[in-house]
Amino acid sequence: MWCWPGTWRALFDKRVFGCLNHLLRRRRRFRPSRLERAAARISSLAPDWVICTGDLTTTGTPAEFAAACRALKPFRAAALRGFLYVPGNHDCYVRDAACQEALAKTCLALNDGHGLADFPRVVEDRGLRLFLLNEACPTAPWLSCGRIDETATEWLREQFAAPRAEKEGRVLVGHFPVRGPDGRELSSRRHLAGAGPVHEWSLAGAYDVALCGHIHHAFRRDAPGAMEVCAGSLTLEGRIDVLDFFPESCTFSQFWLDMSDDEPAPLLAGQISATGAH
Ligand SMILES: [Fe+2]
Repeated sequence: MWCWPGTWRALFDKRVFGCLNHLLRRRRRFRPSRLERAAARISSLAPDWVICTGDLTTTGTPAEFAAACRALKPFRAAALRGFLYVPGNHDCYVRDAACQEALAKTCLALNDGHGLADFPRVVEDRGLRLFLLNEACPTAPWLSCGRIDETATEWLREQFAAPRAEKEGRVLVGHFPVRGPDGRELSSRRHLAGAGPVHEWSLAGAYDVALCGHIHHAFRRDAPGAMEVCAGSLTLEGRIDVLDFFPESCTFSQFWLDMSDDEPAPLLAGQISATGAH
């Protein structure tokens, strides 16, 4: 979502750069009309969980959060078990008190009463464990970085050190990819600080799938380590990541829905695969 910040204070912080970036570069490719169709398509799948991996907003202003919450209503209604949201760097864009309050309220509203202070947290559902991280923090105007802080790192270390229950599937949910589509760290301007231990846990099989956003172009990375799926930008690129978990075999399958044209969304053929069982 993008709205005018509505305050002169935005002229003196990072929001002025975010607005210019949107108006000069992204606005022509921005397709908010896809949201309604995407929600209907997702609803037709009757998903247990609908997960938003962040960047609801452009500059993290109260007006943008309000617009995003309105747009997300049908997505939340589509989820049979629940809706989950982790903040993106655009949602935590500046330290402005009104923006931070809007983020906190949005987090509470979208996560059924779980606020920013509840990160990191785990959601358990019939053999599936979802590890949710808040990696967003305000940064300098020229940076789009995030971080996994020491508290979250130690929490993950404890979680992953615990023996898996029989046929337990583990999914890490954060905004930033642990590695880029080519398996390398993201550039210093866009990277996730503190991702090193998580990458090591991925290689060691401590978790099965990482779900993320941040990069506008959707991608899936299968090896080495856990499968990593970046949902990309729905409004800019138009893809939806669909992940199935099969508790009997403790396997996952993933495919994409393409919402990028005005025709009924087709299933992209040949993009279904499963991870190994544990
Ligand atoms: Fe981002």
